[in-house]
This record gives sequence, C-alpha cells and structure tokens, in this order.
Amino acid sequence: MTAFKAGDAVFGTARGAFAEYVCASQSSLALKPENLTWAQAASAPIAGITALQGLRDKAKVLPGQRVLINGAAGGVGTFAVQIAKSLGAGVTAVCSTRNIELVRSIGADDVVDYTRENFTQQSQHYDVLFDLVGNKPLPECLRVLEPNGIYIGCGGGGPDQPSIHFLGSMLHSLVLRPFTTRKMPGLLAKVNTSDLNFLAGLMQSGKVTPVLDRSYALRETADAVRYVEQLHARGKVVLSVS
Ligand SMILES: NC(=O)c1ccc[n+]([C@@H]2O[C@H](COP(=O)([O-])OP(=O)(O)OC[C@H]3O[C@@H](n4cnc5c(N)ncnc54)[C@H](OP(=O)(O)O)[C@@H]3O)[C@@H](O)[C@H]2O)c1
Repeated sequence: MTAFKAGDAVFGTARGAFAEYVCASQSSLALKPENLTWAQAASAPIAGITALQGLRDKAKVLPGQRVLINGAAGGVGTFAVQIAKSLGAGVTAVCSTRNIELVRSIGADDVVDYTRENFTQQSQHYDVLFDLVGNKPLPECLRVLEPNGIYIGCGGGGPDQPSIHFLGSMLHSLVLRPFTTRKMPGLLAKVNTSDLNFLAGLMQSGKVTPVLDRSYALRETADAVRYVEQLHARGKVVLSVS
C-alpha cells in the first residue's frame, strides 16, 4: 500500500539528502504544491515544520496573541513569521538592519533591530517568544513574557557547539521552572506527512511563501554549508540538482 504513484512530485525529508538520488520513507513525504518551484519545495520541510510545530503545537498560538521571533530573517524564522501571521498573531521580528525590509515584506508587524536595541530590555510583553538564536540569558527572555507566556527555545550555539548549547538551555529551564509561571516546553521537530500536508496547504494558498537566499549546485555543497555556518542566511539556502 503506498500513498504515492510513480511520477508524483513530492517534497519532504530523507537521510543523506545531499545527493542526486535518495531513498525516502513515505511517512516523511507529501505531494508538492503545484505553485512551488522545486527549490522552494526543497527549502520547506525542516524549517517549515519546525516553525509549525513550535508555534501551532507547542505554543498553541491564538488569534490576537503577540509573538516575538528572535532570528526572524533566517531559514526557520522566515517560515515562523508567516505561520504566526496565518494563526492570527501579531508578530514582532528580531533581525539586523539589513533584514528589516525582508521581515516586513513577509508580514512582521513590528521589528526590533538587534544592532540598535536589545529585545529583552523593552517594556512590551509577549505571549510567545520563539527563540531561534538563543543569544540572551533565559531569565532575561522570560522577563518580556506575559505571566502565562511561553518560551520556545529552538536552537542556537552555532555549528561549533550546538549540543552543549542545547543541553545548557534545557538544564537552565529545569532550574528556573519552579520559580516562574511562564512555560518553557522543549522542541524537537519531527517531519510527518500530516504536517507536510498542512504546510503545503499554507503554501498553496499563498499564506506562506518560502524565502530563498541563494542556490548552490550539488558540487558546491561544501560552499553552501560554509555559507550557512556563518549564521547570516536570509531565508533558506538550497542545493540544485540539474
Ligand atoms: N529544535 C529543532 O527541531 C530545530 C529544527 C531546525 C532548526 N533548529 C535550530 O534553529 C536555529 C535556527 O535555524 P535556522 O535554520 O533558522 O538558522 P539560520 O537560517 O542559519 O539563521 C540565520 C539567521 O539568524 C539571524 N541572526 C544571527 N544572529 C542574530 C542575532 N543576534 N539576533 C537575531 N537574529 C540573528 C541572521 O540574521 P542577521 O543576518 O540579520 O543577523 C540570519 O537571518 C538553529 O540553531 C537550528 O539548529 C532547531
């Protein structure tokens, strides 16, 4: 029994995907929306599902809530801004000066330019802080949340120390948990067909449009990884197999 037939255009994830051919489980694939290019579809699964599961499932964002996204101009962030808007939230995006226009163009209502302002020092309070950078101490992040607000720490630490950073954040949240009413659920995104179909619907309807920074040929994979490791991609970086 298979969900797809030969020749179907699909998108999703597979192990060892820096390759011309891959073997993928049908449980991590969905039909590609017709209005997307291959590059757009390739950019969507991990970043889009991370944003979706963080905002819809962990934070349970409701219409009218205020969501702050730290790292809004990156791969996950550009999906997160659009998904939070599609859930009816007001979105504040944190990015550098050069990306202000970009995050506004995908729907951010307000922008904090981190080269000029520290978002943890603002008087504004948020229902959800979706943190894709992890560069601020957790107690400072909790300070800008409403008493029943939710902090979703999703990454950070950079390529040299992602696991240590992740472990450190988890331990820190365990220590702080008894002393705050704010919630700090962990997030480890898992790609599945149901959520890919949900994401496909958002992209088909135009509520979410993948933001592509640049595309590399397969033989330039090392350059692509080096570029992403600089942590300043604007949206997603894709590999093209021609
Ligand atoms: N938990 C999970 O399941 C899961 C899944 C996927 C990804 N992740 C993690 O999520 C994180 C984000 O992933 P990503 O793919 O979105 O990364 P990315 O595309 O590499 O993010 C790059 C973006 O980060 C922004 N940035 C850098 N320094 C910043 C700062 N100080 N303040 C605000 N923004 C800053 C950059 O904007 P500027 O150029 O304007 O500085 C750039 O747009 C990573 O740590 C990744 O490992 C976790």
